[in-house]
Amino acid sequence: MTTVIETPRLILRQWRAEDAPLFARINGDPLIMQYMPRVLPPKDSDKLVKRFDDHFSKHGYGMYAVESRESGVFMGTVGLQHVDFKVPFAPAVEVAWRLDYEFWGQGYATEAARAVADFAFNDLKLKEIVAFTVHDNTRSIHVMEKLGMAHDEKGDFDYPSLPKGHPLGRHVLYRLKAKDYSSAAVSQDA
Ligand SMILES: CC(C)(COP(=O)(O)OP(=O)(O)OC[C@H]1O[C@@H](n2cnc3c(N)ncnc32)[C@H](O)[C@@H]1OP(=O)(O)O)[C@@H](O)C(=O)NCCC(=O)NCCS
Repeated sequence: MTTVIETPRLILRQWRAEDAPLFARINGDPLIMQYMPRVLPPKDSDKLVKRFDDHFSKHGYGMYAVESRESGVFMGTVGLQHVDFKVPFAPAVEVAWRLDYEFWGQGYATEAARAVADFAFNDLKLKEIVAFTVHDNTRSIHVMEKLGMAHDEKGDFDYPSLPKGHPLGRHVLYRLKAKDYSSAAVSQDA
């Protein structure tokens, strides 16, 4: 399965070689990466794209490259991936997002995430997707809430690879079950 997902303003597709330097710039930007443990040097950004490609090969879906329909410009990534580290809620499929700063505040992340959730439930027939982020990453949490995801407070966790007490360690867990999801009911302005 190699699906392209289209929304009114966006195309979610697999990665092309020319996306890599643009994604490396995003991953090297301290503002965009403020809730990640570190910015990524270009070679680590390229490794991440390779991981995304491998996920597509193995599962037929993954973290998509997001492109503007109007301009064709690469904007970042939104998609689905298996949770591949040790946490009590794994195995699970995560919905995740990272867009270039110039595309924040325009509803693009929510538009892409909503299309990805439609795909997860209608095409992949997943029973549930999860999302997680650092407890004070309010922009990301806002996207989760606009998707209709519910905070599973008991599932909040310390990110396993970070030392205890690390300021970015505490993560919130959100869940969305297929039976509770209605794309039509997703709030535009939550
Ligand atoms: C998390 C992230 C994707 C959120 O992006 P975002 O642009 O804030 O999210 P949305 O797409 O939901 O946009 C919401 C904003 O667009 C505004 N907006 C403008 N035009 C809009 C439209 N046509 N439709 C909907 N919303 C619109 C909304 O009012 C809202 O503004 P607000 O944030 O001031 O309330 C972005 O901050 C990011 O890439 N962060 C870095 C990576 C990251 O932290 N990822 C998560 C870690 S796991």
